[in-house]
Amino acid sequence: MKQAAIGLVGLGVMGQSLALNMARNGFTVAGFDLDALKVAAFLEGKAAGKNIFSVPSAKALMAVLEKPRRILLMVPAGAAVDSAISGLVEYMEPGDILIDGGNSHILDTERRSQQLAALGLNFVGMGVSGGEEGALWGPSMMPGGQAAAWEALKPILEAMSAKAEDGQPCVVHIGPRGAGHYVKMVHNGIEYADMQMIAEVYDLLHRGAGLSNAELHEIFSAWNEGPLQSYLIEITADIFGKEDALTGQPLLDLIVDEAQQKGTGKWTSQNGFDIAAPIPTINAAVESRILSGLKAERVKAATVLAGPQISFPEDKKAFIQAAHDALYASKITAYAQGMGMLRIASAEYEYDLNLHEIAKIWRAGCIIRARLLNDIMDAYQKQPGLVNLLLDETFRDAIDERQAAWRSVITTGVKRGIPLLALGSALAYYDAYRSERLPANLTQAQRDYFGAHTYRRVDREGVFHSEWVPPPSGGKP
Ligand code: 6PG
Repeated sequence: MKQAAIGLVGLGVMGQSLALNMARNGFTVAGFDLDALKVAAFLEGKAAGKNIFSVPSAKALMAVLEKPRRILLMVPAGAAVDSAISGLVEYMEPGDILIDGGNSHILDTERRSQQLAALGLNFVGMGVSGGEEGALWGPSMMPGGQAAAWEALKPILEAMSAKAEDGQPCVVHIGPRGAGHYVKMVHNGIEYADMQMIAEVYDLLHRGAGLSNAELHEIFSAWNEGPLQSYLIEITADIFGKEDALTGQPLLDLIVDEAQQKGTGKWTSQNGFDIAAPIPTINAAVESRILSGLKAERVKAATVLAGPQISFPEDKKAFIQAAHDALYASKITAYAQGMGMLRIASAEYEYDLNLHEIAKIWRAGCIIRARLLNDIMDAYQKQPGLVNLLLDETFRDAIDERQAAWRSVITTGVKRGIPLLALGSALAYYDAYRSERLPANLTQAQRDYFGAHTYRRVDREGVFHSEWVPPPSGGKP
């Protein structure tokens, strides 16, 4: 009977690409999907002649897998994962490994880890980034779960992963239980922030400075050769250059300005509040997508609410350079927020995250891959306990050099009425983080005033409450 190194349940777009990737790297794959037509089309099409075969049932899958069995689930996050798990576990044996490669919610992954551990099964919640192309040619992968499971998966995952410029595989054991899905969630939060900041710079340069899509294509292509070099800048340059086949106009101009979301950015914000991690730029990106969705309201408001007249800058070249610098400073700050969130979560959930390793495996394959990640990796190598990326010398200097440009770009946006929720929040985070004294003393005073919530003093120990105004005169109630 044929034997397979790994089973793959769920032969959708991502599942198929991962199966082809594993087969190309020398691992025989047994595929299973409830949709027999889809399986047949795959086996006769893209998988023809490759080390991929299908099995008719979950039970049959168990018979062909080497032990401990390795089974990768690539089904939509949510109820489908639970139903796939329950269809498989009855045939699995202690020591077998089930991997969920979808964008599952961390609480689901924590719950599933516990349930399966109680049965002696290993459960690996694994973040997979890079889209369809990445899955096929080399994704960045963030597996959590038991260390023993990682050892059994390592040869396959390392072979199929993206490789950074230094040849290092973009996969590492992230930590126990939900750690892998947690780190993928924060990756997506940073992805949201990065995308929104780029969109705001586009707005500044297009609406606020009158640059055409063709000019933006040139500018972004040049930016992709420097410190901003990243996958998102690269694809943005391509997008500016794309002509619509139907009309010959720039395709970008024909796309409705309502951004959608599947939820991982929102989960990052929600969890940020839960663990008290300040991530205002990620939050601003989530909010911006929500605001964009209020299209009908915005169309009406545009006829009612006034803003300033937009006048284009006189020195466009200088403005473009300033926008570049503002984007880079903001980008550092957004990554600082995301990495800071991981540091807090690591303590909160006992994930024992290694931020150096995480930056290292984000350097290739994933959506947020960027030249900047090399410096982030170095920063955490030098100082594993680094509290905030902004405090690293390289980043401190990088921001300092661009600080004047950063402030002037935000000011220009404000003057011209261009909304900069993400870029503005990044600068405000920077200013808040470097402020020895914030106006929270007033907040505390207000809380004590109306709710007797008490406050602490700068000049003596203890907890205090004040009568903020004399009691009303006129006797006792
Ligand atoms: C990745 C992406 C991927 C996907 C997200 C984003 O790392 O490959 O993050 O997981 O594109 O689902 O989705 P939304 O923008 O729809 O939330």
